[in-house]
This record gives sequence, structure tokens and C-alpha cells, in this order.
Amino acid sequence: MENQTPERKKKILSCIQSSGIPTLGNYLGALKNWNLLAQEFDGAFAVADLHAITVRQNPAEFRQHTKEVFALLLAIGLDPEKSVVFIQSQVPQHAQLAWVLSCYTQFGEMSRMTQFKDKSASHADNVNVGLFTYPVLMAADILLYQADLVPVGADQKQHLEIARDIASRFNGIYGNVFTIPDAYIPKQGARIMSLADPTKKMSKSDPNPKGYISIFDKPDVIMKKFKSAVTDSEAHVAVGEGKDGVNNLIGIYSCCTGLTAEQIEHDFEGKGYGDFKAAVGEAVIEQLRPVREKYELLMADGAYLNDVAKKGAQTASHIAERTLSKAMKKVGFLQEIK
Ligand code: TRP
Repeated sequence: MENQTPERKKKILSCIQSSGIPTLGNYLGALKNWNLLAQEFDGAFAVADLHAITVRQNPAEFRQHTKEVFALLLAIGLDPEKSVVFIQSQVPQHAQLAWVLSCYTQFGEMSRMTQFKDKSASHADNVNVGLFTYPVLMAADILLYQADLVPVGADQKQHLEIARDIASRFNGIYGNVFTIPDAYIPKQGARIMSLADPTKKMSKSDPNPKGYISIFDKPDVIMKKFKSAVTDSEAHVAVGEGKDGVNNLIGIYSCCTGLTAEQIEHDFEGKGYGDFKAAVGEAVIEQLRPVREKYELLMADGAYLNDVAKKGAQTASHIAERTLSKAMKKVGFLQEIK
């Protein structure tokens, strides 16, 4: 058709905290999808290091973790030529907009955030104000890029809701400044549970290291952890009630191979858990291998990582500045004395 401008791709934004190497659960549940989303949408992806200091960090470890998680974003396949990939603290507009938005956010709204309540209970010795206003910074991350979509897991849904509320409130006063973001729920959501206690979500803060697979665990470690995964006494590879361990392994195997649960049940008919666990371990090893290999190359090339981070921050800052200056102008900050 003549004169038809190509439809604008929707914008998607997500961030990952830099508090250590993510788990297989983070990979299958979120990161693997980011790579697909980056192909379908106009994407921005960041390491949320500003958020990380709501919990006390050791400076040297913190720097190292930020580098590792940034390298990971590239290792999962994000292409810095196609998406904006950056480190949040290198784009000052995030902190600036967060301040402005905090003045349009009510104390009562923040007090109701369940993550704040949970975290202040688990870090009772350091209930800092940053922990309290954390969702406002997250709103700034999202709104600066005028994101249409934000892929979020269940634990971040409430934070996205508040970002929408803050944006609508601001727009209600000043006109259309911010795009109201929608949650992006992946078609095939994976909730990966602990291998040691399959009633709990897999987490890197699990005191039992057998419970979680780190994305960069070596093959022999991965295999060992799967072999000791908790199952049940039925010796029947099938989805079922009360079979949390086996259900979880089937879920993981399905994510890695693309097979449905029915196909997996069929393939392992009459076989024991030993065989099945080895197959799951093998599938996970193969799934993570290319990511780990690319990661190792990237980590050995600090100059390249630095270059990509600098360019990413520049692009991000350019986009963010447009939104920030518009918002500040609307509020009435003096731009130029005439
Ligand atoms: N709070 C998110 C988490 O812990 C990370 C995050 C920070 C984020 N800013 C964001 C996620 C913006 C989505 C969009 O997982």
C-alpha cells in the first residue's frame, strides 16, 4: 500500500538486579524470553544496580556482580546493536525522575507494597528509605523509556501496578507525559522450584546450594545437583498432585527440550527416576552451555564490555532525557531565565 508508514514496534523494558549470578529459574522463567522479546519488540534491558544498594553491598563484590550480570545480558543473546543494553547507574535520569515521581506517590501506597513488608522483616536491621521508595525508582526505569510492555513475574506485578498508578496520576495533572505500561505475561511461563524443596521457588539465596542451579555452574555440578534432586517414592515419571519434585523436573525438561509433559511422560514410561534425572541434567547442561561459553569470552574482554556499556548508557540517556525534560518542564522547573 502507498504511503503506509510501517507500524511502530511496541517498546518493551526490563531490568535485572545485580545481586549475584542468577539461577536456572531466572534463566528459564525470564532471561531466555528476553532474547525472544528483543526480536519482536523495540527493547531496552538494564542491570538495575541502583536497586541493589537497598541491601548493603560489599563494594568490590558489587562491582564484580554488576560486570557479571551485564556480561550475562549479552551472553543470553541480546544484541546491543538492536536493543538498548545498559547499566542503570550510568544513566543519571533514573535517579532524577525517581525524585520527581516520589513527590507524586503517597506514603500509604508504598506502605502497602508486599515486597517492602517482606524485605523489611527479613532485613530488620536495615529498613532504609531506599527500600521503601524502591518501586518509585522502578517506575522511573519504566516510564523514562515510554515502555508499552514490561515482562514481570508474579513478585513484581504489584510494582508495575504502582508504576501505572503514578503515571496516570501525573498524566491526569499535566497531560500525556508517560505511556501507561502493560504487564507482558509470557505465553509459556515457567516457575522453577528448588531441587531440594520443590514447594519453594528456586532462589540463589537458598542456604542449601543443592536447591538451585546457578547459570554458570559447571556440567558436573549441574549433573550432581539433578541426581540429588528431591522426588517421591512412586518411581513414576508423570505430572501429579503431591509430586512437586517430579512436576518441577518435568517442567524444567519441557522448557529445555520443547517437549510437552505428555510427550515426556510417554518417553519415560517404565523408566526410573535415575534415568529421568540424568536426562534432565543433560538437557540443562546443553541449554546453558552456549550461554556459559559466550559469557566466559565476554568476561575475558573487559574493554569490549566497557565499550558496549558506554554506548548503551549514551543511547539510554538520550531517550531518557527526552522524557525527563518533558516531565520537569510540565512540573514547572525553570528551564531558562528570560
Ligand atoms: N525490581 C525488579 C526485580 O527485582 C528489577 C527491576 C528494576 C525492574 N527496575 C525494573 C523490572 C523495571 C522491570 C522493569 O526483579
